[in-house]
Amino acid sequence: MASLSAYFVIAILATQAYCVPTSRNERREAALPDFVNTYDLGAQLANTQPQINYKVVEGALSPLTLDNLDSLNALNGSNIYLTSIESTTSNPQPQWLKGVVPDSTGKTNGAVSCSIVVNDYGNGTVDAFYMYFYAYNWGGKVIGLNFDDHIGDWEHTMTRFSNGTPEAMWYSQHGAGESFEFSAIPKYEDGVRPIVYSANGSHANYATSGTHDHTIPGLDLPFGVALVDYTDDGYLWDPILSAYYASVSFANGSSTPVFAAYDSTTPVNWLNFVGKWGDEQYNSSYPGQYDVFGQYRYSSGPTGPEAKNLNRGEGTCPSGDTAPCIVLPVVTPGEKV
Ligand SMILES: *[C@@H]1O[C@H](CO)[C@@H](O)[C@H](O)[C@H]1NC(C)=O
Ligand SMILES: *[C@@H]1O[C@H](CO)[C@@H](O)[C@H](O)[C@H]1NC(C)=O
Ligand SMILES: *[C@@H]1O[C@H](CO)[C@@H](O)[C@H](O)[C@H]1NC(C)=O
Ligand SMILES: *[C@@H]1O[C@H](CO)[C@@H](O)[C@H](O)[C@H]1NC(C)=O
Ligand SMILES: *[C@@H]1O[C@H](CO)[C@@H](O)[C@H](O)[C@H]1NC(C)=O
Repeated sequence: MASLSAYFVIAILATQAYCVPTSRNERREAALPDFVNTYDLGAQLANTQPQINYKVVEGALSPLTLDNLDSLNALNGSNIYLTSIESTTSNPQPQWLKGVVPDSTGKTNGAVSCSIVVNDYGNGTVDAFYMYFYAYNWGGKVIGLNFDDHIGDWEHTMTRFSNGTPEAMWYSQHGAGESFEFSAIPKYEDGVRPIVYSANGSHANYATSGTHDHTIPGLDLPFGVALVDYTDDGYLWDPILSAYYASVSFANGSSTPVFAAYDSTTPVNWLNFVGKWGDEQYNSSYPGQYDVFGQYRYSSGPTGPEAKNLNRGEGTCPSGDTAPCIVLPVVTPGEKV
């Protein structure tokens, strides 16, 4: 089995990121979690049911687990939304939407919430994708209104290795993102592991703390109010302490990822699921739903890791080689307020 190189990324929950000093390949051989009592990927399955057009999909396996989730693909899978069984807008919200706060070592105890997927292109280039899962996305406020709240959130960073040396990193941000030269990225106190700041609520990934302006695609507000992401030194989350590892490859000319686990106990089939990891955008009859120029308060859940373009070739961004994909030589500090 291919072994992973020596550098890992750290993401931070809610805010802040750090790295835990780890210079070894640590492949966690996590036993399958108790799906019902934990708050991780499996908990998302235990607390949701597959729906299309707000109706439960008939003929789906029950229970759905990380081992059989991809059976949904044959049931019009790309139109399926894993939809919360309980109301997601009750006060207080269901506990499972709150995820797990990392402990003092940075571990999300009892919750596997990171999936590390490795594409070894066989020519010295290896991409390690760190997929961060969050049970809920709080979209943040613009002019006092919330937008883009949704169930389930997948964000990722990717480290590009060349002959074992990390060269560049991609940080996903709201369907887009930024690439940096690895040497430019702030490191944890061990000087080795890169830091990822996960924005409060939206979980967009940044290399620095502070306030980050970004635009919302499709929301063209006429009064010049920018939506911002906020990151700071919040919780330390070391995602590799509780992660599932898999390799990914692509048959020549194929765009379909082929996932494989590195051992016999890590669930891997779920990575093939092509549907959405949260409720479909609530329709206008849903209490509290509103939109401003097509930007909704409650939006749809995201697609999973398989949709993140895991075959990037020369470029480090998801569009691979087909669009300008600039690797920045410096990081920009967030604005401090
Ligand atoms: C995220 O932002 C919300 C709204 O401003 C705030 O209530 C909450 O405390 C923030 N969370 C963290 C972890 O800073
Ligand atoms: C799949 O779902 C879409 C969206 O609801 C629907 O329009 C389509 O008819 C479905 N296809 C099949 C074969 O059920
Ligand atoms: C992949 O496909 C291309 C185009 O069909 C072909 O030219 C190339 O030789 C193939 N490469 C391998 C390794 O099979
Ligand atoms: C709106 O959503 C509800 C579920 O939240 C569903 O029962 C209803 O059929 C939907 N209405 C339309 C017009 O799609
Ligand atoms: C390695 O292989 C990938 C996939 O075929 C290709 O896109 C990339 O350009 C290659 N990189 C190098 C350095 O040859």
